[in-house]
Amino acid sequence: MAGVHGKCVNPPPSRLVFQTAHEGTKAERRTEQHMDPVTQKLQLEAQRIASRHGIPAFYTSFKPHMALARRLYYHHPLVATLKQWVKPRLQECLGHGLYHCRRVSIEGAALVFAEMESGPRDPRGMERLMVLALLAGLLHDICRSQDNHAERGAREAAKALRDYPLTADEIAGVCQAIRNHEAFIPPEPCSRPWCQLLSDCLYDADKFRWGPDTFTHTLWYMVHQKGLTLQELIENFPWGISGVVRIKETFRTNTGKHFGPQIIESGVSIGREIYHYLIKHYREGENDQRHADGH
Ligand SMILES: [Fe+2]
Ligand SMILES: [Fe+2]
Repeated sequence: MAGVHGKCVNPPPSRLVFQTAHEGTKAERRTEQHMDPVTQKLQLEAQRIASRHGIPAFYTSFKPHMALARRLYYHHPLVATLKQWVKPRLQECLGHGLYHCRRVSIEGAALVFAEMESGPRDPRGMERLMVLALLAGLLHDICRSQDNHAERGAREAAKALRDYPLTADEIAGVCQAIRNHEAFIPPEPCSRPWCQLLSDCLYDADKFRWGPDTFTHTLWYMVHQKGLTLQELIENFPWGISGVVRIKETFRTNTGKHFGPQIIESGVSIGREIYHYLIKHYREGENDQRHADGH
């Protein structure tokens, strides 16, 4: 749940527990930033399940690309300055905070490298575009809690980058990429090839997050924020997985089209295992409740 100004507010009391005498106390102890213990426990279990799955081939095939992207993310002065600006504006409680944006930034920049190395080599131009991808990744969800967040985010990004040592074209390119990043909405074509590449790389890196990250990270923040019961989570799970599957067909770069579907499939198989765990957990909880009620 989001406040009127896009700030996360305290979610409704958690119902992701069976009715017990202590439920209220647990909900009271919870703060805006901290998940309730049951959701936290389920997230840990999901991470344990995910750790048994292999690493998708994108991360093993593009190690040098990821390493350079990471180095720029942690050491480039423009990225460091923007990070300080976005930090208080990102909303971890929606599952789209700095964790999400850091991964989108780094993988978006690695995709730029992967896509550009097969074309004419211009190392300085490539590094500059990687930095723009990092900036776009940091900024793309700054309006995540608002309607039409891609368009609003693009407008806020234009204001944020006004005083940065970037050309007007570079700022327009970053903003267009942000405008185009929403799933299942046809993107506006970009006027220049480098701008199109930036836009497509941001999109693909953001959609890579629909793989394992959905089940190890984003889902639990959303469950916590919406105050879902375990039963509601189980009921919605198959529908959620079918949405994740649909993203496989939407990747835009050649690298994304090649490696993205495997990232999504990995997420889906982790998701299915978590689903079975949740059903088992729910049944055990029901049985415990029946015993407690003396049936
Ligand atoms: Fe977004
Ligand atoms: Fe995002």
